[in-house]
Amino acid sequence: MADAVGNKDAKNYYLDTPVTDNGFFAKGLGNTDWGMKNRLSRLFNPKSGNTVMLAFDHGYIMGPTAGLERLDVTIAPLCEYADVLMGTRGAIRSCIPPTLNKAVCLRATHDTSVFFDDMSVGSGLGCDIEDAIRMNASALAIQCFVGGAGERDSLETLCRAADAGYKYGIPILGVTAVGKEMERTPRYFSTASRLLAELGASFVKTYYCEGFEKVVASCPVPIVIAGGKKLPEQEALEMCYKAMASGAHGVDMGRNVFQSEHPAEMMSAIRKVVHEGFNGAEAFEFYQDAIH
Ligand code: 5RP
Repeated sequence: MADAVGNKDAKNYYLDTPVTDNGFFAKGLGNTDWGMKNRLSRLFNPKSGNTVMLAFDHGYIMGPTAGLERLDVTIAPLCEYADVLMGTRGAIRSCIPPTLNKAVCLRATHDTSVFFDDMSVGSGLGCDIEDAIRMNASALAIQCFVGGAGERDSLETLCRAADAGYKYGIPILGVTAVGKEMERTPRYFSTASRLLAELGASFVKTYYCEGFEKVVASCPVPIVIAGGKKLPEQEALEMCYKAMASGAHGVDMGRNVFQSEHPAEMMSAIRKVVHEGFNGAEAFEFYQDAIH
């Protein structure tokens, strides 16, 4: 039985060895069936292999945070710049026009709010698979608290969501949550990402960190990064670039977009990094030209 003591640390990540593609562009997903591949091809651009997701699900734990006071005013106009919309069913149904025809990654857990002492206590399913299908979801996002109080329940939720997802061909996005008391180390992010992939997530959302190429290499499915708290635009674009250069397949960003003074231009600059291979400096120059 594997245990927590006396293990040898991972060391050989075969960073120079390309991943076997099994005949499909998305990493590790060549053996899934047609419906799943079709949805993955809406989530990830088959040409670049990457995705720009717009995360605006924060209200489900944070309420009306800055930039999300009126989703119809601030988020709806930004959706055209995204490949994928990540939000709750309540936010999407009430504020996002269905005519936009963007892939939806439905936030499908409920979690504890900012008023709760320990936000890592965890979650359960926030909507059932039938409602996700009714919303035409291309993916379900399941938050997991690896190492937190909610580890067991949230991993159970992920497994049951993956069962339902495989049944109907809907990929699961495993989200590695970071709680107040939880680790934010490369070892943590690589362990949490790998766990979620092994338990059935078709792609994983985590945070950029030092040594990110090892986090990516040891996760058998695509990784997208969250943006985290608002940074100056130049730093946020540099972080996107570093994540992509380390092998990430896109971003699922929220606050660094909708809390920017120029969210549409920020989205366009992020697209340049994710889909066109711009580096951080080139993307920031593009951003500055665009805002002027
Ligand atoms: C929280 C989430 C959020 O959607 C995501 O982290 C928000 O993105 P950002 O950090 O870029 O504001 O999944 O677990």
